Amino acid sequence: MKTYLITGCAGFIGSNFVYYMLNKYKEIRLVNLDKLTYAGNLENLKGVEGDPRHIFVQGDICDKELVSKLFAEYDFDYVINFAAESHVDRSISNPEIFVQTNVLGTVNLLQCAKDAWYNNGSWTEGKKYVQVSTDEVYGSLGEDGYFMETTPLCPHSPYSSSKASADMFVMAFHDTYGMPVNITRCSNNYGPYQFPEKLIPLMINNVKNHKKLPVYGDGMNVRDWLYVEDHCKAIDMVAEGGRVGEVYNVGGHNERPNIFIVKTIIAQLHDRLKDEGISEDLIEYVADRLGHDRRYGIDPTKIKDELGWYPETPFEVGIVKTIDWYLANQEWMSHVTSGDYLKYYEDMYKNK
Ligand code: NAD
Ligand code: TYD
Repeated sequence: MKTYLITGCAGFIGSNFVYYMLNKYKEIRLVNLDKLTYAGNLENLKGVEGDPRHIFVQGDICDKELVSKLFAEYDFDYVINFAAESHVDRSISNPEIFVQTNVLGTVNLLQCAKDAWYNNGSWTEGKKYVQVSTDEVYGSLGEDGYFMETTPLCPHSPYSSSKASADMFVMAFHDTYGMPVNITRCSNNYGPYQFPEKLIPLMINNVKNHKKLPVYGDGMNVRDWLYVEDHCKAIDMVAEGGRVGEVYNVGGHNERPNIFIVKTIIAQLHDRLKDEGISEDLIEYVADRLGHDRRYGIDPTKIKDELGWYPETPFEVGIVKTIDWYLANQEWMSHVTSGDYLKYYEDMYKNK
C-alpha cells in the first residue's frame, strides 16, 4: 500500500485530488497536511469523513518539527505539494506570505524528504517528490505560441515569482542531491470547491445574486482552462510514471478570453434559472490588475506522448458540470462567502 503526504488538500485542487485518488485506489493512505488558511475548507472533504484511508493533519508546511514527525510516523512513498498561497491579487497586496509558504514551505518539505529518504549517499527506492506548479512561471504570451517545458521562466507577479522560485529549489534538490522529483505546471483550473475569489466561481456567485461582474481591463486576457479532475489525473500519472527530474506541462488548448467566460456564465444562468434579472448589464469593466499577464497557453505534447494524458473534458462540458455543482451546493457557497466555513472546522475540531 502506497502512502502519500499530500499538502494543501483542504483547498480547491487538493480536495478534488483526494476524491480522485480514493476513488481510483482501494488501498492507499493519504496524509493531508493543511494549515487551513482562509482558502482551506474542511467542508470540501466532507465526502471522505470517516474514511480511514484519509488522515487529516492541521499544520503548516513550514513547520520542520511537524513535517519531520510525519515522515517518521508514516514512511511516505510520495510527497505531493499542493499547499500554497494561490491568488495573484492577494500576492500584489501582500507578497511576504507568498515567499513564506510557497518558497520556504517548499524548501522545508524538500529538506524533510531528503532527511527521510537519503541515507549513506543513496536514495531509498521508490520515493518521489512532486511539486504542483503553474504555467504562470513562464510569464505572458503574445498572440501566438505556447509554453513548452523548455520555455525560460519569466514570472511577473509576486505569486508566480514565488512559484518559480520554489520550482528552482525543487530542481536544485534534484541536480545537487539526485532527489527523485517531478514538477507539473498546469493552466487555470476550474470545477467544484474553488474558492470564489477566482474568476469562474466568483462570476457564478455574482451572476446568481445579480451582483456586478468586475472584469479587469478590456476583458481580453486569455487563460487556458483545465477541468480540475483532468488535472488530478495528470498529477497521479506523473507521480506514477513521470521520468525523474522532468517537468510536465498540463493544459489543453482550452483558451478563452475572460469576457467570453463571463458571458458564457451569464447566458447559462439566465437560461437555466429563467431569471430576467441576469443579463450582460451586470458586467462592469474595472481597472486592470497590476502587471496583468495577457495570455497563457500550454503545449501539453510531452505529457501526452510520454504518459498518454490528454485533457478529456472540453470547456463546453466542464463549464456546465461546474455550474451544476455550484447550483447544487449553494450551502457550501453561502458558508464560504459568509465565513461560516471557518466555524465548521472549529466545531469539528472541538468535537474530536
Ligand atoms: P487553494 O488556494 O484553493 O488551496 C491552497 C491550500 O493550501 C489551502 O487548503 C490552504 O489552507 C493550504 N495552505 C496554504 N498555506 C499553507 C501552509 N503554509 N501549510 C499548509 N497548508 C497551506 O489553491 P488551489 O487552487 O487548490 O491550488 C493548489 C496548487 O495548485 C497551488 O500550489 C497552486 O499554486 C497550484 N495551481 C493552481 C491553479 C489554479 O487554477 N487553481 C493553477 C495552477 C497551479
Ligand atoms: P484568476 O481566477 O484570479 O486566475 P489567474 O490570475 O491565476 O489567472 O483570474 C483569471 C483571469 O480573470 C485573470 O486574467 C484575471 C481575470 N479576473 C477578472 O477579470 N475579474 C476578477 O474579478 C477576477 C478574480 C479575475
